[in-house]
Amino acid sequence: MPAVSETRVGVLISGRGSNMVSLIEAAAQPGYPADIVTVISNRPEAGGLKRAEDAGIDTVVIDHKTHADRASFDAALDAALEAAKVEIVCLAGFMRLLTTEFTEKWRGRMINIHPALLPSFRGLHTHERALEAGVKIHGCTVHFVTPEMDVGPIIMQAAVPVLEGDTPELLSARVLAQEHIIYPAALRLVCEGRARIEGERVAVDEFEVADRALVVPGV
Ligand code: GAR
Repeated sequence: MPAVSETRVGVLISGRGSNMVSLIEAAAQPGYPADIVTVISNRPEAGGLKRAEDAGIDTVVIDHKTHADRASFDAALDAALEAAKVEIVCLAGFMRLLTTEFTEKWRGRMINIHPALLPSFRGLHTHERALEAGVKIHGCTVHFVTPEMDVGPIIMQAAVPVLEGDTPELLSARVLAQEHIIYPAALRLVCEGRARIEGERVAVDEFEVADRALVVPGV
């Protein structure tokens, strides 16, 4: 059987790294088109670093506090990605704003997971805000990263019901389970060149519903 050509992927984290683990586990499956070659954290204490090391992945810490400004932090980040010959960057709970210069350089090659159905609830505290707004459907989004935060072309989304009695914690857990499904699925599409940016939108070749959106049945 011919070897699958694997795209070199770098994952950026700031915290526990559960989405990172979902990507590492997917990449370990035969036939998955990505190789996670480096995990980079801007926080030395991020729990995800140990989880990456346990999986045998090279890790790098670039502590933003040791950089005078965003430009110098992003330059160090870029150098680490280039050193690892990264082709696609995945932001997985990476909680730093990136400069326009950095996002432009990686445009079309950098994706993010956001815990809401964009364009609703950009930014932080999405589950609390969804509950406050009284929405009945919430979810998560994988999108290409553009200079404006949480705005780029949408690759895949998953929707979950908001239930009576939900707390931010309960809702977050229900959404996170879906994040772990759609992030590896979306990265596969990108690595296979099947998710093409057309203006503000993403077109997926060989379209199947499951390639674009997941809706979790109500309970
Ligand atoms: C995830 O829910 C991710 O969607 C969110 O942070 C969490 C990280 O968890 N990302 C953002 O809010 C980005 N704006 P993880 O470290 O366990 O993957």
